[in-house]
Amino acid sequence: MFKPRILVYLIQSSQELITQQNLQTYNLIAEDIYANGMAVIPNALPIELIEGLWSQVHGMSSEQFDQAGIGRENELMQNHFVRRDEICWINGSSPAGQAWLDWTHQLQQFLNKRLFLGLFSFESHFAHYGPGDFYKRHVDAFKGDTNRILSVVLYLNPGWVTDDAGELVIYQDEFDLVGTKILPHYGTLVTFLSDEFPHEVLAANRDRYSIAGWFRVNTSTADKADPPR
Ligand code: OGA
Ligand code: MN
Repeated sequence: MFKPRILVYLIQSSQELITQQNLQTYNLIAEDIYANGMAVIPNALPIELIEGLWSQVHGMSSEQFDQAGIGRENELMQNHFVRRDEICWINGSSPAGQAWLDWTHQLQQFLNKRLFLGLFSFESHFAHYGPGDFYKRHVDAFKGDTNRILSVVLYLNPGWVTDDAGELVIYQDEFDLVGTKILPHYGTLVTFLSDEFPHEVLAANRDRYSIAGWFRVNTSTADKADPPR
């Protein structure tokens, strides 16, 4: 009997189809990236996904985080004057982590189809900024160093109010000294072209949780695997 097996296959593969909510979000991101090079979307992801990620990061002990470094690949070093957050890379070993990687993979495929970005891989980590922690003005990729193409930041802070501070400040270019401030509200997703926008994280008055991630193009050569981790 053939038919029941075909039916099961159809049901399974339809679960991998993009939901209406995700399609809406992906469309908004593509339109804003195309028009402005960046997108700020509140309530961007399914609420179950945000809740799963929040409870994972909230339940982590400080031993599970590493002090964040700066620099590239082997030049990685810690600089307490530049950034003070602690991070934990997401590898898909938890259901919430895997659901996040699935969601970003769908976004990657969507943006490649819609904007021909040629995104090849994705890496991301949880970040925790304690009260007073900051990340000074920086860019995520340098011009001509076409590795990190698109940066993604997702905030996991229920009940954040203006007085909690901890804004992400995004500057239009290297000459912009004013910038635009974005509060790290629960479920807000920020995406921007990695080499276009200098940005910084201002000190917060309470613990600040987020995920930061980067889509890369493939720059593999015979003796150098990409990504380097
Ligand atoms: C980063 C970064 C922004 C934020 O990790 O590179 O810029 O708001 N994070 O957490
Ligand atoms: Mn950054």
